[in-house]
Amino acid sequence: MSLKKILIYCNGKKWLVDKDLKMFSTHFGNVEIPQLDKDIEISEINQKKFYFLKPSIAEFILKIKRKTQIIYPKDVAVILFYSDLKETDNVIEAGTGSGSLLIGILSRVKKGKIITIEKNEEFKKIAEKNIKDFFGEIPENLQFVKGDVYDINFKLDINDEWADKIFFDLPEPWRAKDLLKYLKKGGILVNYNPQIIQIKKFIEEIEGFIDINVFEILERKWIVDEKRARPSDLMRGHTGFIMMGRKVK
Ligand SMILES: C[S@@+](CC[C@H](N)C(=O)[O-])C[C@H]1O[C@@H](n2cnc3c(N)ncnc32)[C@H](O)[C@@H]1O
Repeated sequence: MSLKKILIYCNGKKWLVDKDLKMFSTHFGNVEIPQLDKDIEISEINQKKFYFLKPSIAEFILKIKRKTQIIYPKDVAVILFYSDLKETDNVIEAGTGSGSLLIGILSRVKKGKIITIEKNEEFKKIAEKNIKDFFGEIPENLQFVKGDVYDINFKLDINDEWADKIFFDLPEPWRAKDLLKYLKKGGILVNYNPQIIQIKKFIEEIEGFIDINVFEILERKWIVDEKRARPSDLMRGHTGFIMMGRKVK
């Protein structure tokens, strides 16, 4: 499995580009792209140093191709750790979107199975491409399901209480609450929404969950150099709210 993308870094700027490209143009000049067998290559163009690196998962998902809103790395990181996602977990995710959270899930779950559900074929294809670009292939433990989880006739070909973890990133998650029958007792539900009223309605509509927590993650970057040590002027003020709960009934 090998990454199909390369990260180019110069003067605080980063680009994620196809390894197959020979040349990449930046406002610093044209950059020849090396075939990155090593972990790092460096070249100098117009007295600027360009570093060619293998992207980390956070660098990768920040720059993935997308036609949907994605879950940002700061939130993905917390979701993966707080949900105690394990190598052997069976997971259900709805909807797939551009695959940002899914790439995070795939980086953890290696022996368990992941079912990801998306109703939009175009978004599924984008997610597939992003996953192939990062992992080099579609991992065998991943199953894409095309379907509308709001449809009362929607079913998965698995037993009830199959999943250790369920992840929702849907505009109206309460309309997908029937899927929660697939979560084991003791299993963890994670629901992500940009608006708190979505979270509130979902909590009001689900039953059999305890220890429901709702929170958001604020990441404030600081500028630290020879002259300054202070918060950056700009901040991504809001991404979304994370809601988690434990199924007991
Ligand atoms: C915000 S995006 C998910 C982004 C994803 N978590 C990521 O990190 O890239 C929400 C996705 O849910 C899908 N979706 C919305 N309603 C759905 C439904 N009823 N059934 C299945 N998928 C649905 C949308 O097509 C969209 O791709």
